[in-house]
Amino acid sequence: MKFFVDTADINEIKDLASTGLLDGVTTNPSLVAASGAKSFIDLIGQICKVVPDGPVSAEVAATDYATMLKEGQHLAKIAKNVAVKVPLTPDGLKVCKALSDAGTMVNVTLCFSAAQAILAAKAGATFISPFVGRLDDIGQDGMQLIRDIVQIYKQYPAIKTEVLVASVRHPVHLVEAAKMGAHVATIPPKVIRQLYAHPLTDKGLAAFVADWAKTGQSILDAA
Ligand code: G3P
Repeated sequence: MKFFVDTADINEIKDLASTGLLDGVTTNPSLVAASGAKSFIDLIGQICKVVPDGPVSAEVAATDYATMLKEGQHLAKIAKNVAVKVPLTPDGLKVCKALSDAGTMVNVTLCFSAAQAILAAKAGATFISPFVGRLDDIGQDGMQLIRDIVQIYKQYPAIKTEVLVASVRHPVHLVEAAKMGAHVATIPPKVIRQLYAHPLTDKGLAAFVADWAKTGQSILDAA
């Protein structure tokens, strides 16, 4: 399963890239606004250099076909690893088709139903982003949507669209998505750090460190 980080904070991205476990980055207009970046284009360029082997999602700002297409083409020129993010609307999917046909990666965002995910696959999306946390927030079952999309896409080997689980709020979302066979999860930095944590790991490590000290030895001195 691939891990993307869902942030536009360049320092967070650098820190998480250094773990060697990061496969890509997703941004959205809200995350860019929160980052305080003065130039969106420069920010995406910087992120693409930090994660050169992974897709970096950069979202269009317009909502009409012609302007979204121009914005998408402009974003795609920033770096080879840009995935243009478009909303799941009729115009967004037209842009998806046009950019995909031209060889650009496209991430279709704001997906809240299996029917929408079928449309995105037909439009040639590289990624479909179903938002699990926001569905949970309104009392629906976000993970059921992932289960449905994974099951549907598996029926059609010609579909190459990857299921990118978005709006991830906690480690259980990630584990459930992995059990279902979702291709990618985009995860906020805080949740990525939570993935490492277990109180028994901390307790066990403290005991090992204390017991090792009692031996009075150093592994490196013996080398
Ligand atoms: O980037 C898209 C998605 O992951 C946003 O998540 O937490 O704003 O619902 P959230």
